[in-house]
Amino acid sequence: MTAPLVLPTLVGDAVRLRAFTPADLPLVREATTDPLIPLITSVPASGDDDACRAYLTRQADRLTTGAGYAFAVAERVTDLAVGHVFVGLRDVDLGRATVGYWIGRPYRGRGLAGDALRTVVRWAVTVRGIDRLELYVEPWNVASARTATSAGFVREGLLRSWEKVGDERRDMDMYALVSPQA
Ligand SMILES: CC(C)(COP(=O)(O)OP(=O)(O)OC[C@H]1O[C@@H](n2cnc3c(N)ncnc32)[C@H](O)[C@@H]1OP(=O)(O)O)[C@@H](O)C(=O)NCCC(=O)NCCS
Repeated sequence: MTAPLVLPTLVGDAVRLRAFTPADLPLVREATTDPLIPLITSVPASGDDDACRAYLTRQADRLTTGAGYAFAVAERVTDLAVGHVFVGLRDVDLGRATVGYWIGRPYRGRGLAGDALRTVVRWAVTVRGIDRLELYVEPWNVASARTATSAGFVREGLLRSWEKVGDERRDMDMYALVSPQA
């Protein structure tokens, strides 16, 4: 049996990336009300506390199953959880990892997503076996595209009808960052 992954704590300029704790429930509850987050993540579409707690448990489970590293994005000074960043390892045997992120609406526009992504990328490119990081952004999502490019990702092209978001298949721009060591 493979050993469980170990989640490091990573410190950026304004954020600390750490494991989720039960105290982060209010963030998940808030995220359930976002029009997009429940469609593109496993955040439940209802504010039901049991479902929100199950979401928090699933993030820790991702280490034991080897699915990837799920970080809470917390404010560095207060430790308040404001969002999530995930490094997925489904294709790590091929040297590729995927990255996803969201920030709760009350905390947006303060540079936290960019800081969180730059912080996780600095670490991820040092993880053995990760040669390339990929992320997918809907073409309308300017904030996410700018977050990606601010962390060194480059837009590589349009993936037509790439995945379902809610009931609709959507186009996605693929952004990637190649590890300096690759
Ligand atoms: C995308 C998202 C993570 C951005 O979070 P954020 O903390 O507000 O982003 P930041 O403040 O770090 O800003 C990142 C960049 O986007 C720009 N930006 C932020 N909000 C913007 C907006 N509404 N419109 C245009 N640009 C915007 C910032 O100016 C910054 O660009 P710069 O580095 O060139 O100055 C957040 O809007 C979100 O969680 N959205 C819902 C989920 C989502 O879309 N996740 C990504 C899926 S690919």
